[in-house]
Amino acid sequence: MKIPLFTWIFLIPFLTIFSGVNVVLVSGQCRDQRPLLELKNSLTFDNFTSTKLVKWNSASDCCEWPGITCDDGGSGRVISLDLSFAGINGGLDDSSGLFSLQFLQNLNLSFNTFNTTLPVRFANLTDLISLNLSNAGFIGQIPNDISKLTKLVSLDLSTNSFLGGPALKLEKPNFATLVQNLAQLEELILDGVNISAQGSDWGKALSSSLPNLKVLSMSNCFLSGPLDASLAELRSLSIIRLSSNNLSAPVPKLLANYSKLTSLELSSCRLNGIFPQTVFQIPTLEILDLSFNELLQGSFPEFHQNLSLQTLLLSSIANLTQLFYLDLSSNKFEGRIPSFRKSKNLTYVDLSRNNLTGEIPSGHWEGLLSLTYVGLGSNKLEGPIPSSVFYLANLNVLELSSNKLNGTVELHLVQKLPNLTTLGLSYNNLTVIASGKNSNVSSLPQIKKLRLASCNLRVFPDLRNQSKLFHLDLSDNQITGPVPGWISELSLLQYLNLSRNLLVDLERSLSLTSLSILDLHHNQLQGSIPAPPSFITYVDYSSNNFSSFIPPNIGNYLNFTFFFSLSNNHLTGAIPQSICNNDWLQVLDLSNNSLSGTIPSCLIEGS
Ligand SMILES: *[C@@H]1O[C@H](CO)[C@@H](O)[C@H](O)[C@H]1NC(C)=O
Ligand SMILES: *[C@@H]1O[C@H](CO)[C@@H](O)[C@H](O)[C@H]1NC(C)=O
Ligand SMILES: *[C@@H]1O[C@H](CO)[C@@H](O)[C@H](O)[C@H]1NC(C)=O
Ligand SMILES: *[C@@H]1O[C@H](CO)[C@@H](O)[C@H](O)[C@H]1NC(C)=O
Ligand SMILES: *[C@@H]1O[C@H](CO)[C@@H](O)[C@H](O)[C@H]1NC(C)=O
Ligand SMILES: *[C@@H]1O[C@H](CO)[C@@H](O)[C@H](O)[C@H]1NC(C)=O
Repeated sequence: MKIPLFTWIFLIPFLTIFSGVNVVLVSGQCRDQRPLLELKNSLTFDNFTSTKLVKWNSASDCCEWPGITCDDGGSGRVISLDLSFAGINGGLDDSSGLFSLQFLQNLNLSFNTFNTTLPVRFANLTDLISLNLSNAGFIGQIPNDISKLTKLVSLDLSTNSFLGGPALKLEKPNFATLVQNLAQLEELILDGVNISAQGSDWGKALSSSLPNLKVLSMSNCFLSGPLDASLAELRSLSIIRLSSNNLSAPVPKLLANYSKLTSLELSSCRLNGIFPQTVFQIPTLEILDLSFNELLQGSFPEFHQNLSLQTLLLSSIANLTQLFYLDLSSNKFEGRIPSFRKSKNLTYVDLSRNNLTGEIPSGHWEGLLSLTYVGLGSNKLEGPIPSSVFYLANLNVLELSSNKLNGTVELHLVQKLPNLTTLGLSYNNLTVIASGKNSNVSSLPQIKKLRLASCNLRVFPDLRNQSKLFHLDLSDNQITGPVPGWISELSLLQYLNLSRNLLVDLERSLSLTSLSILDLHHNQLQGSIPAPPSFITYVDYSSNNFSSFIPPNIGNYLNFTFFFSLSNNHLTGAIPQSICNNDWLQVLDLSNNSLSGTIPSCLIEGS
């Protein structure tokens, strides 16, 4: 019989009401209440953190309890249980009510501290599609029984950080045995598990058992290399995270075969050889992290500065339109910086500590308005800093220190970067102009770290409104005059390096309680030595013109100090006994002064 469409529309409200009644009648008795209450009673948990468990009580239908989802067919069976971040401290073993929840498909116990081995009876939950036990505090060998969960699509047993060794391990059974029956698996997340397998073993196990794998996350798993060639068969892989494993091998070209690859993280893997340029042609790539592979060589697809726009657009990296995060720091990449023109979503670029040469291309930054981080420090870049860099309005970090850049930078240009928190221009051949008719200090962004060492500065930059500043390096310049008094108003300042300048005086004592490191060495400071700030750990007053005697109570200022140098000054008189009232001092240098008198007992060998 055909029912006209309008009749169906007419019937829908009635059907809805009817099934609503149905739910109340049948699943009024949620059928898994007993095992759930058993589970709750066996667990130890923190009543304050555990906002879900405290609401589990027989006064309401257990299908309505927080963290519980029942089958929508009205069977009254629990199919999902989410007790993540539930403040659970223990109480799960093989007798737990949890393992009577026969219909469970999704189980999330992440971020608790169970502090026990994995119960073998997880294997009873044969309907599980998704099992998330990440950072749940399970320890020891992963039981073989997990491999019986053949419907699993997602398995997460990761631990992010561990003190005193990895929490979980795969020894007997080994990795191959664990995954051999999990053919449905699309997400395998085992970061931090001690898998301790050879490259050919774990690679072959993955490729032969998990044909549908999309997410492979096994960073920090004590894996060794190489990356097995059979991995190329896993055509669906889109996320590969293998950072912090000692692979000690080259990156195989097979990576470029993953046409759906969005994320490749191989940081700190001791990779060597030459990184295949073809990876820069995978158009889906969003995240690429190869940082800290000190032996890894590589370069970007070749292009020249003066190529026509059209040729530039054809150069390979220009095709990475989805690229979002690029960290190639601390490798051996050489050649020129690539064009990022088409990567409009790029937010993070760190190419620091490589052997990159050539100029910082000027035309490549326009329109990259998502960029927040640009790290190009410690390369061999030359030429001027292109002014287009100062139009990246969302930039937080601009670090260009330790290159061979030249030219003049007017500090007021950073006004155009209202979100800038770190600026590093140290150790180039730059001349930074910090004052002049164009400088308008009242509108500088709220910088936290300013590194202007060796920048040919001649005057002290006016930073009196930079109330968020905590790291200031103006060392190795030709700044004359006094240390301005407003420094003592920068109440967050922790690191102050004014060494190797021509400073003569302190306008005010540096009474900053936040200050931890103070380096004033190699200036022309005179008079008696200034009292160190109260929580200082490192003080260098050496190679100045300080005279007079060392204050008798100097030890009272050095309660947290491990390094204190007064060498190469004109100090006279005795070494105060108060120096001995200090537990932390490791280096005390008073050499090249005109001190006299007895040496305090604590400084004599053997005491
Ligand atoms: C539950 O798991 C245990 C251990 O794996 C097994 O011996 C037992 O037969 C299982 N029970 C059911 C009902 O599946
Ligand atoms: C990891 O497992 C291997 C083999 O089981 C073992 O030799 C090694 O000591 C473990 N490593 C750590 C850090 O626990
Ligand atoms: C890394 O692996 C290589 C090759 O197996 C080995 O020679 C090296 O000692 C390992 N390094 C560390 C730190 O384990
Ligand atoms: C970049 O993409 C264009 C257009 O899709 C294509 O013609 C070109 O070959 C690609 N370049 C490289 C080096 O992959
Ligand atoms: C940039 O990211 C947004 C949101 O994540 C996305 O919708 C857009 O397609 C991306 N743009 C490009 C060019 O990839
Ligand atoms: C300095 O900047 C402030 C805030 O942006 C502005 O109000 C003021 O007019 C500027 N002064 C000069 C001399 O440009």
